[in-house]
Amino acid sequence: MNEKKAVGEKAADYVKDGMVIGLGTGSTVFYTITKLGRLVQQGLSIKGIPTSLQTEKLARELGIPLASFKEIDHIDVAIDGADEVNPDLALIKGGGGALLREKIIAKAANTFLVVADSHKLVDTLGAFPLPVEVVPFGMEMTRKYLEVLGGSPKLRQNNGSPYQTDNGNYIFDCSFQKITHPGELERDLNLIPGVVDNGLFVGMADIVITLNRQKEIDINM
Ligand code: A5P
Repeated sequence: MNEKKAVGEKAADYVKDGMVIGLGTGSTVFYTITKLGRLVQQGLSIKGIPTSLQTEKLARELGIPLASFKEIDHIDVAIDGADEVNPDLALIKGGGGALLREKIIAKAANTFLVVADSHKLVDTLGAFPLPVEVVPFGMEMTRKYLEVLGGSPKLRQNNGSPYQTDNGNYIFDCSFQKITHPGELERDLNLIPGVVDNGLFVGMADIVITLNRQKEIDINM
């Protein structure tokens, strides 16, 4: 069974006519967006607000009407993937580099729905290096402060140059090993000058759709 496809498509059940939908980024929510594209062809009326240029391109190709924050004042449901999910539904996100727009859109949503294959479920966050988006100016200093907080930052690369986010920033992937207090770390990281945001999403996810060990759809709320 393709777990990503199963949970990704299941999320489309939450989408109703007339809704504004936050469209996430990654290989799991790809299946949600593809299914929404099919439903739009069959008459579903929604507006999507994309979390990345990559998702914007996909949604346009599928014929999903798009909106921006200039035209809308709320998002009904945001649907997105995750790199790790703990039992409190705290997340690490940003493996695909879209963490900042993902967090802005998740925060604006009445319901934030996460789609994750079972490999993403962990007892303690931190095995996946935490993405931290930083402005390029002064990043050498920013790196030092990330180390003071216990991280081992590695500047993300793309073909030999620093990887650039859709916002023109860089990403340090920070190994913290075990993140026992994710809410504190999320706040402390964001107090460092030069940090734009980080991939900890604490207290944001309302629903996580995953597969349990019997490979059945499991919905945590
Ligand atoms: C994108 O920046 C990420 O936050 C993704 O949502 C996350 O990496 C999950 O991606 P996959 O569904 O491809 O594993």
